[in-house]
Amino acid sequence: MNEIISWEKTQIGFLGKTEIGSFQVTVYQTGIIRIQASRFPQFDTNPYSVISSPEEIDFDLHQEGEFLFLSTSKIKLRLNLSNFNFSFFDFQDQLLNEDDSFGTAWMGTEVTCYKKVQENEKFIGLGEKTGNLNRFGKAFVNWNTDYFAYGVEDDPLYMSIPFYLGIHQKGAYGIYLDNTHKSVFNFGASTDRFISFGAEDGDLDYYFIHEPTVSEIISSYTSLTGKMKMPPKWALGFQQCRYSYYPDKEVTTLAQTFRDKNIPSDVIYLDIHHMEEYKVFTFDGIKFPDPKSMILHLKSLGFRVVVIMDPGIKKEKGYTPYEDGVANGLFVKYPDGEDYIAQVWPGWCAFPDFTKEKTRKWWGDKMKFYTEAGVDGFWADMNEPASWGQFTPNLIEFDMDGNPASHRKSRNIYGMLMAKSANEGAIQQKSAERPFVLTRSGFAGIQRYAAAWTGDNQASEEHMLLGVRLVNSLGLSGVPFSGYDVGGFAGEASKSLYARWMSIGAFSPFYRAHSMINSKDAEPWAFGEEVEEISRNYIKLRYQLLPTIYSKFHKAASCGLPLSSSLAIDYGQDEKIYQSAFQNQYIFCDTFLVAPTESHKEITKVYLPEGSWYYLYSDEKTEGKQTIYQDCPLSYLPVYVKAGSIFSMQSEVLYTEQKNDGILKIHVYAGADGQFEHYEDDGFSWEFQNGKYHKRIIELKTDSKALIFHKAEGDYESDYKKVQVFFHGFHIDEIKLNGVSKTLTYSHFSFLDKLTEFDPLPESEHPFISIESLPFIEFNYTNNHVIISVLN
Ligand code: NOJ
Repeated sequence: MNEIISWEKTQIGFLGKTEIGSFQVTVYQTGIIRIQASRFPQFDTNPYSVISSPEEIDFDLHQEGEFLFLSTSKIKLRLNLSNFNFSFFDFQDQLLNEDDSFGTAWMGTEVTCYKKVQENEKFIGLGEKTGNLNRFGKAFVNWNTDYFAYGVEDDPLYMSIPFYLGIHQKGAYGIYLDNTHKSVFNFGASTDRFISFGAEDGDLDYYFIHEPTVSEIISSYTSLTGKMKMPPKWALGFQQCRYSYYPDKEVTTLAQTFRDKNIPSDVIYLDIHHMEEYKVFTFDGIKFPDPKSMILHLKSLGFRVVVIMDPGIKKEKGYTPYEDGVANGLFVKYPDGEDYIAQVWPGWCAFPDFTKEKTRKWWGDKMKFYTEAGVDGFWADMNEPASWGQFTPNLIEFDMDGNPASHRKSRNIYGMLMAKSANEGAIQQKSAERPFVLTRSGFAGIQRYAAAWTGDNQASEEHMLLGVRLVNSLGLSGVPFSGYDVGGFAGEASKSLYARWMSIGAFSPFYRAHSMINSKDAEPWAFGEEVEEISRNYIKLRYQLLPTIYSKFHKAASCGLPLSSSLAIDYGQDEKIYQSAFQNQYIFCDTFLVAPTESHKEITKVYLPEGSWYYLYSDEKTEGKQTIYQDCPLSYLPVYVKAGSIFSMQSEVLYTEQKNDGILKIHVYAGADGQFEHYEDDGFSWEFQNGKYHKRIIELKTDSKALIFHKAEGDYESDYKKVQVFFHGFHIDEIKLNGVSKTLTYSHFSFLDKLTEFDPLPESEHPFISIESLPFIEFNYTNNHVIISVLN
């Protein structure tokens, strides 16, 4: 029994003592309540994830018999004083979540919180976790792990985010467990009594979040753990990676091939072979004798270079980073003060203690080596941290910014602090530009420092679909900017798998192809002409959609919501979306419902949720809340646009910074009200923070049959001189622009180019889907308020 012995009200909640230790309840925001329970009088500190403080909020606290009630305008909490059991209700007294009678229980240092399962409850989130969208029936461990070629059910992987959401008929809530020790979330594996979460040491320290909608809960979670910062625009382009491209000639040929083949792309990665004996902050003098000139040449072709950085520093006399680290006490140590040494790519290595400010700063200083050579982005790999043997001794010590702790508490946060160091280093080295850091490992809050990718997947159909779920789940957990190795890292993709993966990847926030050493080439042209054309088509579509994608990145940076949104966000009460046939479907950039489909299928089942939907390529309209059978030839990934959607496109460009033709293309879909916030800035600097942006709302109002371009805001001069508005699904008799009649133009329109018929035989003809006659108008793009009346 964990009875409460005493309690008292505080400014921000209440606290007290139980038979076992102490507890504290803090009203963080009207929709967030923090629960802490410790075996000790003092609470454990976890300074890295939650970066906001409790707001000053009015709340009511009173006792009724053995219950204590605390209420804000959004949440009512009930604490049973006889057993330390919590129940949470919404403001209408609907039960959202309650403890099982075991409540909070300790077994030695291990603490677990047991919760009842509400009727038909679904559990989603928990970041980079394999398995189904609905996590019910499975248990997951949070322990950052280097897992080469993981299986589609394997756990744990590289990154831990102990945040999940529960959704049931009475509402939704989120729980974030702020504890970096190894933790376990059991959503009903091997038990039908409860679900539970807990950690092997430290406090029970969780935030209960309730808001009316799932998206508001996610947004609220990011008000605690922070939001992604606006990345440079080039990081939204297509990126090509391989373990590894070398020597320099191969890299420049690669870049030139992209240009020669008219395949848009922005980034080339230098994996570990760019280094001399895998030593970070070196270039291999033979493979890359003049990196500066090579990078300059790549830049002239419109490419940016990202280099890999592994934490392991080779233990070698005369190697400056190692000697620096030893001299300044920058490495992780055994309790007796000796540096911890383990093997990674360079052989025996020391590991920078990224939990120490001094080390983070030192690493950031060292990054000058790369920025001086012209490098623009940084890829933090192996930062779980990985080492051969895959078993880091638990006794090693980390500084934890002055609160030393063992590997048990520090491991899960190590990767995120390396990403923080890389992020700050990049800013320090090139302060005028927004940084780009990609990380493999991380913890709650990683979105503040880096984009994430899902590590060493395999070239298989299941992995292609799993990657989508991983990215969607990261999005549910505060990380909007993530992706997977398109084509599969381990193994070799078939032609069809590669083509399909490239098309799905075009609708992923982070879009990068990557492949393993000793495997066949895996660039878009390496699989034959047909795959090359399909890849080009989808990459080109991605680049044409950049005005939308960039606008939505801006939105994600301000509200914390995903760019790849699981259907559970907007349609969480719809049972269908959790079914295995449909759980991979997602909405990209609030606009495109993507139904990822295995590459060998010619026809697939798609579930369209509530609303009306247009098949992207033909404008065929279907009512939602039904399953449809969709043809899905390799050249057409099933994608639908919801009625009321508005999105923007630009002309074809070969890289993100290439100038477009100055015409903004707005696509509007009839059938419901809709809104789109179009956003532009210079794409690379911080000037947008000083008002140098261009932003406006474009709104479709079905009642008044009007499309309104609200007045533009901001000091950035738009990249566009003209605008074309394309009307999908409208039956238009007359159109007026600010009251003046305009003539509509009708054009044949297709989102993708027709594939070449390589083989003259009729049976190998490729389908070509287009919109016969799409009406549009064109006018000058200005900052002024514009009303387009559409009369039918
Ligand atoms: C492991 C990473 O996951 C992979 O992407 C990379 O290519 C290799 N390390 C080599 O650096």
